[in-house]
Amino acid sequence: MVEFAYKNPTKLIFGKNKISQLKKELEQYGKRLLLVYGGGSIKRTGLYDSIMTELEGFDVFELSGVEPNPRVTTAQKGADMIKEHKIDVVLAVGGGSVIDCTKLIVAAAYYDGPAWDIVIGKHKPTQAVPFGTILTLAATGSEMNSGSVITNIDTNEKLGWGNPLVYPAFSILDPTYTFTLPEHQTVNGIVDMMSHLIEQYFNEATNTTVQDGMIEGVLRAIIETAPKVIDNPTDYDARETLMLAGTVALNGSLRWGYSGDWSTHNIEHAVSAYYDIAHAQGLAIIMPNWMSYVMPKHVDRFEKFAKNVFGIQKETAFDTAKAGIDALRAFWTSLNAPSTLAQVEIDDTKLKEMTEHCMIYGTFGRLEPLGYDDALAILKMSL
Ligand code: NZQ
Ligand code: ZN
Repeated sequence: MVEFAYKNPTKLIFGKNKISQLKKELEQYGKRLLLVYGGGSIKRTGLYDSIMTELEGFDVFELSGVEPNPRVTTAQKGADMIKEHKIDVVLAVGGGSVIDCTKLIVAAAYYDGPAWDIVIGKHKPTQAVPFGTILTLAATGSEMNSGSVITNIDTNEKLGWGNPLVYPAFSILDPTYTFTLPEHQTVNGIVDMMSHLIEQYFNEATNTTVQDGMIEGVLRAIIETAPKVIDNPTDYDARETLMLAGTVALNGSLRWGYSGDWSTHNIEHAVSAYYDIAHAQGLAIIMPNWMSYVMPKHVDRFEKFAKNVFGIQKETAFDTAKAGIDALRAFWTSLNAPSTLAQVEIDDTKLKEMTEHCMIYGTFGRLEPLGYDDALAILKMSL
């Protein structure tokens, strides 16, 4: 492992009806509040009304319509609203897209230039408006991390950025809010959180016995729980397991001492920069292909994954490793996640552009560093 320091300041408030703590958590920052949410699911589910009841006494301004794959233009709008209305505190209600957008909003509110400067690293935020979240989709871990992924349609870029200033002050996680998710969104969440765990499992460090055990355990819990949620979307215990798994998968606590590989995420962001597909659809397609591509150089690691996550044991280490990748693909296919780009109507037209996007920050991947030809090969395997 490399030496590390770890601090996560987000207060997690987990359980049924925890919205009752909303007012207490918010009022310490002031009364002028910006409520940020997506395309309307919170109105359809009744959550919006519950929030408004809790927010009695606050001056509430609203930014709605945050897109899945949130746009920089929407974040800019939010930052401008904060300046105009002298907002004290922001509340993000939704999935990763709403929370990611809010992170840029609260940082850009203290900057006079365009919000995109923060995403591309041209401006480093020095201050941010405090914000809390109410999570409605177990997937990204954004509710307890300081990362954010933003899309710029004008430049066909989808980029991640992060800053310790944009950890949520608190996040309310009530598993019942995920009961209303359409099946494919639940599946997207499952694929995304599993991908986060796998990206970290295949890392650059050499002594990760403790972390391996934790990641394998969370993966097994998700695999066991996923069919229960599909069978019964209002199974509280199963929803609770997924919500906890999604948060722990990307709150930094499973990557003490290393960073993880993250090649699949890099390639996926390149795909969804050009095609407006769900993040997890891209991951489901690309990850097993990335695994097959790098596995021959890291057979032992992939053998351990196959044995400890899927309980597979074949005659040779290579066969076990390969069967582990096949098992992951089969599991995702059993949930109706896509396995080829063709299934999400993407052909080879923009192969060159997507490959170039993969190389925005140069060579990528930490288990196995990859370059242009590798990215191209993995994208071709995914067609
Ligand atoms: O917009 P509304 O109407 O709210 O509908 C949303 C949206 O259409 C719907 N939804 C959410 N909760 C619901 C619900 N529908 C019914 N009932 C509920 N309870 O679900 C749709 C997808 O929401 P979205 O927030 O886009 O999904 P997700 O949480 O998967 O976030 C995806 C975004 O996060 C980024 C991705 O790249 C993508 O842009 N990521 C952020 C990360 C981070 N900050 O750490 C890491 C991830 O790897 C990822 O890259
Ligand atoms: Zn992800």
